[in-house]
Amino acid sequence: MKLGTPLSDTAVRVMLLGSGELGKEVAIELQRLGAEVIAVDRYPNAPAMQVAHRSHVIPMTDPQVLNGVIMAEAPHIIVPELEAIATEVLADIEAAGMAVVIPTARAVQLTMNREGVRKLAAETLALPTSPYAFAGSAEELAAGAEAVGYPNFVKPVMSSSGKGQSFVENPDEIADAWTYAQEGGRVAGARVIVEGRIDFDFEITLLTVRSLRDGAIVTDFCAPIGHRQVKGDYVESWQPQAMTPAALTSAQDIAGKVTEALGGLGVFGVELFVKGDQVWFSEVSPRPHDTGLVTLASQTQSEFALHARAILGLPVDVTLREPAASAVIYGGIEAQSVAFEGVAEALSVPTADLRLFGKPEAFERRRMGVATARGAGTDEARERAREAASRVKVVRV
Ligand SMILES: Nc1ncnc2c1ncn2[C@@H]1O[C@H](COP(=O)(O)OP(=O)(O)OP(=O)(O)O)[C@@H](O)[C@H]1O
Ligand SMILES: [Mg+2]
Repeated sequence: MKLGTPLSDTAVRVMLLGSGELGKEVAIELQRLGAEVIAVDRYPNAPAMQVAHRSHVIPMTDPQVLNGVIMAEAPHIIVPELEAIATEVLADIEAAGMAVVIPTARAVQLTMNREGVRKLAAETLALPTSPYAFAGSAEELAAGAEAVGYPNFVKPVMSSSGKGQSFVENPDEIADAWTYAQEGGRVAGARVIVEGRIDFDFEITLLTVRSLRDGAIVTDFCAPIGHRQVKGDYVESWQPQAMTPAALTSAQDIAGKVTEALGGLGVFGVELFVKGDQVWFSEVSPRPHDTGLVTLASQTQSEFALHARAILGLPVDVTLREPAASAVIYGGIEAQSVAFEGVAEALSVPTADLRLFGKPEAFERRRMGVATARGAGTDEARERAREAASRVKVVRV
């Protein structure tokens, strides 16, 4: 793909579907390479819109409206940043050869539904996963939970960031888990997956990049990222996560197989559970991953730079520069208009850096920013990142 000049006939136009904090960093990297960036989301002034050439506020789950915006903008490349999109539109656009969908329309469709990706991984590719069952009613769920055993996790098949997800310790709690999944899923009356609990030592995201080198697609793996989740949402991550050579080989083998099956170009976040030498596949995002925000500090090319380069057909370098960590800054309050206090104090922590995403409103559990820090090792980096994050206070104004 020949790069040109934005806002001219030679521009390479890239449309981001979803304009959150991850899209914002991708937009910045695309801007640096002179791509024309069009940001789309369902609310105005979303983070990536603030650094794009143009933006559109539309319900992205409405096929007609989505198709209309794509037709009007005629992007060369479409980059989905989240899962709540009318993906059938993307399949049609791709089939008609009107734009390249990152990584592919099929990958976006498969991964937006836990059923699609789990069946691909466990059944088609025969990769190790937790035991699982799908259910379309409370009764089916009770039977499925019996089959996979307790404790287990119940999740809507269409959800992310822990929404609608329950940790279930015994059969008495199954009815509540069903109800909670119905409330938390993206669509009403949705199916759920019940997964047996994997008793892991730690969990990682293995960022896997498919890019072009000398005209052929190559796969590169970033150093493993360790992370800690609370209520299904990541609160801190660090890189590298130490693991045995056997576990690392196994993790790369799983990630290589899953990403090859999904195809296309770009960054994938492959989520894996690790216990000793043993590795289980959990899920995959066909895009940069929130836990990968740490790469802003740890790698020579962050996951966002890697994604931008890969989707433009350019070579990538996944080298780890230094151990680093990231810690999330939550809203902590519900407020329409917010300001940040303690920024100077946070940036006084050695090596600390901040990303304040510029989200127009705060919610208690909304991710408003992230602190990163480097260190001699990940312990020091984590301490610094947590300290920096804790010094930032979101206040109502
Ligand atoms: N089968 C399991 N065994 C053990 N832990 C699990 C299992 N399933 C989920 N978890 C825990 O819950 C977290 C969130 O689960 P999962 O990644 O499936 O949800 P999600 O809603 O897709 O979250 P996100 O969008 O943040 O990745 C996992 O990172 C892990 O800590
Ligand atoms: Mg996950």
